[in-house]
Amino acid sequence: MRALITGALTLLAALPAAAQGQLNLYCSATIEWCQPIARGFERTTGIRVVLSQKSTGEMLAQLRAEARNPRGDVWWGGTGDPHVAAGEDGLTIAHESPRIAELHPWAQAQWRQTQGRTVGVYASVLGFGFNTELIARRGLPEPRCWADLLNPAYRGEIQMANPNSSGTAYIVIATLVQMMGEDQAFDYLKRLHGSINAYPRSGTAPITAVARGETALSISFVHNAAEERAAGFPVGHAVPCEGTGYEIGSMSIIRGARNMENARRFYDWALSAEAQQVASQEARKLQTMANARVPLTEGAPNMATARIIDYDNARFGASAERRRLLARWDQEVGALPR
Ligand code: G6P
Repeated sequence: MRALITGALTLLAALPAAAQGQLNLYCSATIEWCQPIARGFERTTGIRVVLSQKSTGEMLAQLRAEARNPRGDVWWGGTGDPHVAAGEDGLTIAHESPRIAELHPWAQAQWRQTQGRTVGVYASVLGFGFNTELIARRGLPEPRCWADLLNPAYRGEIQMANPNSSGTAYIVIATLVQMMGEDQAFDYLKRLHGSINAYPRSGTAPITAVARGETALSISFVHNAAEERAAGFPVGHAVPCEGTGYEIGSMSIIRGARNMENARRFYDWALSAEAQQVASQEARKLQTMANARVPLTEGAPNMATARIIDYDNARFGASAERRRLLARWDQEVGALPR
């Protein structure tokens, strides 16, 4: 009898959640952050979240493949350029959240420039990560500048992700093109190629490899390096001396979402200070959050003091420009022997 009552109560407790329906969340941040975001929304609303995680470039490819039969409702996190491209391709729709006014200017600018199709949820600066023990053991200098990475002493010691799948690595190309001019940037990438030991799919894989001592250096967001250090690994980071690019981690509602009401609810909730703070604390993320009421977490790199370029989100988010640059990288860099 008691078991029966307990069973019935469990069922009752589960009912409101079921009644609220479901949200299919496509996530391009790390799984350590996707999960608390999903659970936080479930706790707040009773809506069940079905989570799927992929790198930003891969998720854009999935959205394109599913365009006629969309399976996701909201795409949360990942670098901004593929979100901008998705908006341009008509894969995402505009939404005006009442919380827009609470966001930092860069997050609002992302929203305005895309006519409301994507919005900034966090930001981070591109730089280098390195294993302090490994470089000391091998007598390598600490990298400070983009130019330093071409030092022959680093041959076979550097990792960066593959720009086709990883939004982080695409930002590396876009940053260098903006800083050096396109031909010089590709010349640099070709020379760098000789020092790269692997181009993994995800943007965080290179810094994970640095933390584990599998590679000495990586091109990574500096917050990811700071996170590894905070987790106890011998990892240092540097913001390139010549200046560098940055990401606006973004969020978009998918056109044709089956759970459109829940998608809008998630979007508004995800921009709140509560959502951004709880998730950043639970997941120990060290990006700068878009909601201006959320302070920087201790140990987070401060974007305000970094020398960052005026990243051209419109140009590098444009679908045709993205395809062109990636094809050029495949042909002129990725295909070369190392
Ligand atoms: C990590 C970073 C995020 C970034 C994402 C991009 O999760 O913490 O700030 O947006 O990588 O991932 P990707 O695999 O597309 O480079």
